[in-house]
Parts: sequence; C-alpha cells; structure tokens
Amino acid sequence: TIKVIMDTDPGIDDAAAITMAINDPEIDLQLITTVAGNVTVDKTTINALKLVRFFNADIPVASGAKLPLIKHFEDAARIHGESGMPGYDFPTDLPKPINKSAVEALRDAILASDEKITLVPTGSYTNIALLFSEYPEVKDNIERIVAMGGSLGMGNMTSAAEFNVFTDPHAAQIVYNAGVPIVMVGLDITMKALLTHDSIEKLPTLNETGKMLHDIIINDGDNSDAGIAMHDVNTIFYLLHPEAITTKAMWIDVQTDGPAIGETVGDIRGAYHDGKTNADVCVDIDSAAFNKWFLEEVTAIK
Ligand code: BDR
Ligand code: CA
Repeated sequence: TIKVIMDTDPGIDDAAAITMAINDPEIDLQLITTVAGNVTVDKTTINALKLVRFFNADIPVASGAKLPLIKHFEDAARIHGESGMPGYDFPTDLPKPINKSAVEALRDAILASDEKITLVPTGSYTNIALLFSEYPEVKDNIERIVAMGGSLGMGNMTSAAEFNVFTDPHAAQIVYNAGVPIVMVGLDITMKALLTHDSIEKLPTLNETGKMLHDIIINDGDNSDAGIAMHDVNTIFYLLHPEAITTKAMWIDVQTDGPAIGETVGDIRGAYHDGKTNADVCVDIDSAAFNKWFLEEVTAIK
C-alpha cells in the first residue's frame, strides 16, 4: 500500500479524489489537511469532515491556511457553488477537526511515519510551503509530491495559469524548489480525461457513493458536452495506474508576478536550467482507462 496524506480544498473534484483515496485498498490515507481555495478554509474543512463521516472513516482532518502566503485570495465558488460541495445531503453529525493546525499535523504525521509519505495536494500549496519553511526536516520522509496544478501553456483561471497555482503562486514556487520529487498533474491531462456524461449517468445506478458523487458532480460549473473535468482525481489515478499516464521530466518554474502570474513554465528544451529537472510533468493520459477505472472504483465501494 501507498501511505498518503491529502492536502485539499473540497471542492467537487477534490471530493471525488478523497472518495477514491479513502476507499481504495492500495491507498493508506493517513491524514487530510485543508486549505482555502475553491471556497474558504472553514468550508473546505467542513466538506472534508462530511466525506470522512459519510464513509465512517477513521481519518484525522486538520484545518490549514486561511489565505495564500502573499497574493490576495479569490475563491472558485462560481464553479463549485457557495458550499464547495453542493447537491447532496450529507449527515450533519460531523466529527471535529483535530486540535492541531494543518502544518503541525503534517509535520507530526510525516515524522512519525515508518514509511515515506506520498503527499497529494489538490488545492493550493500554502500549507506545504509553510511546512517546508518551518520544518524542512520532513522532506527526508517524503517519497514524493503528486500535485494537481499547473499546465504547460494553458490556463483555466487566466489564459496562463491553472487555479491551484494561481491561488498561491509563491507557495507553488517554494514547493517546486524544495528539492522534493514532484509529479505535476496539470491541465494537460486533466482537461483531456473528462468524466463523460455517459459515465456520470451511470454513477447513481452503482451505489450510494455513486449517487453522492453524481449529485455533486452535476453541479460543477465547468461542464461541457464532452464531460466534466475531475482534475484532482487524476492524482489518485496516477498513483494507482501510472502506466496510463505519460510523463516528461523537466524543470518547472512558477511565475509570481505580472500578467502570467501563476503560470508553470516548463523548461521543455532544458535550455534555461541546463538540463536539470525538478518535476515529472504529466503530458498524456488514456481517457477511456480513466473513465473505466473511475466507475470500477465507485462500484467497489458500497
Ligand atoms: C483545480 O482547481 C480547483 O477548482 C479544482 O478543485 C482543482 O484542484 C483545477 O484547476
Ligand atoms: Ca482542488
């Protein structure tokens, strides 16, 4: 099994990613930390707790950064709804977040682990940047970071920037320069592996988890005829099925200023960084395999 910690901002696609991470037997989910992003951190924390409660999972949730390091905060409620996870009536008797900040909880969980941790951020990287700045010793016990965010030359927030990196570009630049191996799971694959309407319509026929995911996914504001992007779920798919995704090693820099703020610039030719690399960038994905796997994962739940 893979020991995983998710740092997340649920969020519709985050909710689906958390669903897979909680339930897949190959993943040993140790901790969920939350960050401001799609909606405020108070809401993303409640949404994480709703999912933990829905699955009666014994997974601690720690609440994290309320704001990006430097940039002003803009949410994505226009895509994810006011609550961040609309459309389904979750149980209301929710567990509480643990009594530690996300950064403290991350430090403790990473240092206590007998195996190296795989960190999976599906929101902006504020908590992780703070963690690396305050407790750099954790880096030695991190296997790698498999992060949703970024792209090579396209954006979904501005024409240059993807939302998670745009939200806290300074944090992203710290994380990409931290010396920890990173897999960049960006728009290059997440806009390709859309969950088709065919797949979405099958979800409620599978089980209550499928109904829950269906009922929230259909509220995603970023809906096209071809389907709905499940951006964050691609991180979990990559962990379990790397053979379905093509990666290319390169150096990633993050623009922290100007009109391209939040852009992840890939040194594809190796000319700027002399061939050195800091990331494996996901460049292609088998979309049919992603859809098939998504439905199989849900079918296996309850
Ligand atoms: C990312 O932005 C958020 O709105 C989604 O949850 C995902 O993490 C996609 O750009
Ligand atoms: Ca997210």
